[in-house]
Amino acid sequence: MKIELAVLFGGRSVEHEVSVISALQAMENLNREKYSVHPVYIAKTGEMYTGSSLCSMSSYLNISEMLQACQQVTFVPKGGNVYLQPVLTAGRRGQSVRIDVAFPITHGTNVEDGALQGYLKTVGVPFVGPDVLASAVGMDKYVMKTMLRDGGFPVLDCVRLIRGETAEDMIRRIEEKMAYPVIVKPVNLGSSVGISKAADRESLEVALETAFTYADVILAEPAIVNLREINCSVVGDAWDADASECEEPFMEDEILSYQDKYMDGGSKGTKQSGSKGMAGLKRKIPADISMEMREKIRTMAVEAFCCLGFTGVSRIDFMLVCVKDTRNIN
Ligand SMILES: Nc1ncnc2c1ncn2[C@@H]1O[C@H](COP(=O)(O)OP(=O)(O)O)[C@@H](O)[C@H]1O
Ligand SMILES: [Mg+2]
Repeated sequence: MKIELAVLFGGRSVEHEVSVISALQAMENLNREKYSVHPVYIAKTGEMYTGSSLCSMSSYLNISEMLQACQQVTFVPKGGNVYLQPVLTAGRRGQSVRIDVAFPITHGTNVEDGALQGYLKTVGVPFVGPDVLASAVGMDKYVMKTMLRDGGFPVLDCVRLIRGETAEDMIRRIEEKMAYPVIVKPVNLGSSVGISKAADRESLEVALETAFTYADVILAEPAIVNLREINCSVVGDAWDADASECEEPFMEDEILSYQDKYMDGGSKGTKQSGSKGMAGLKRKIPADISMEMREKIRTMAVEAFCCLGFTGVSRIDFMLVCVKDTRNIN
C-alpha cells in the first residue's frame, strides 16, 4: 500500500515563491510507486488547496485561475486518523483522503518557524523535518546563535534590536559593540531578504530601516571582509546524522543575495526559463578547500545539527574568513 503523503508549501511568508519552487522540485522527484502525493498549497491568505494543477509551475502565472480549478481543504482528525478534507463550497464536494505523513517544504515565517509544525502536531499528522521547537530555533538567528554559542560553536557577536527603540540608541549600542562594516538582518527571515551591509553611520541608519520593513526584531553583526561561504547539509537525527559534501556558493556582490540564490545566479543571469530555485545558484561542489577544512566543516555541521535538535535534512552554512587573493583558509 502506498504512503499517503501531503506536501505542504507556500504560506503567509515573504519566501512564499521560494517554497513553491522547492516543493515542485521535490514532488517531481518523489517515488510515485512508494508515495501517493497530495499537494497542499497554502495561499498567501492562509487558505489551503489541493489539486493536480498545483504541480505545474506555469499554473502559478495566474494563481486565482489555478485555485478555481483546485479544492480548498483542511486537515481533520477523526478516529485516530487525520484526513485532508474538502472545505464545502457552493457546487463543490471532493473526497476526503487519509494522510499518513505531511512533508512541509516551506520557507520563512508562519510555515518554517514552528507555526505550521505546531498545527500539524495539534491535528496529529506525523511530519517530516524538525519538530516545533527546533523549527522555531532554526528560524530565529538570535536564538540560534545563543544556543550555538552555548554549545561552544564559533558565532559572531551581535546586537539584537526591537522596533520602537530610537535610531540613535540603536546606533549607539551597535557602535559600542562593533566596528564598521556591519551587517543588518531581520532575525526571522531567510533567502537574504532585508539584509544589507553598512560601511558607516549613515548607511547603518538605512540598513536598520530596511530590515525593519520585514521584521519587528532585527540584528546587527560585524561584517566579515573577504568572506568565503561554505555550505554543508546534514541528514538524520540526534542519534544518527551524516554530512554531505561541502559546496561553495558564489555571489555577484558583497552579499549572497536573493538574486544570486534564485534568479539563475544573479542579475546578469539568464531568466528566460524562470527560476530554478537554488538549482540556479552558481556554486562549486565539492568546494575548493583542503581535506582538513572539509572534515572540520562536516564534523561541525553534524554537531550543530544535533545541538539545535534538528531532524530530517538541514543545510548548515559556514562563513570563512579568507586571506584575499591566495584563497588560503586557516
Ligand atoms: N556577518 C556577515 N559578514 C559578511 N557577510 C554576511 C554576514 N552575514 C550575512 N552575510 C551575507 O548575507 C547572506 C545572507 O545572510 P544569512 O545570515 O545567511 O541570511 P539568510 O538566512 O537570509 O540566508 C550570506 O550568505 C552572506 O553572503
Ligand atoms: Mg544564508
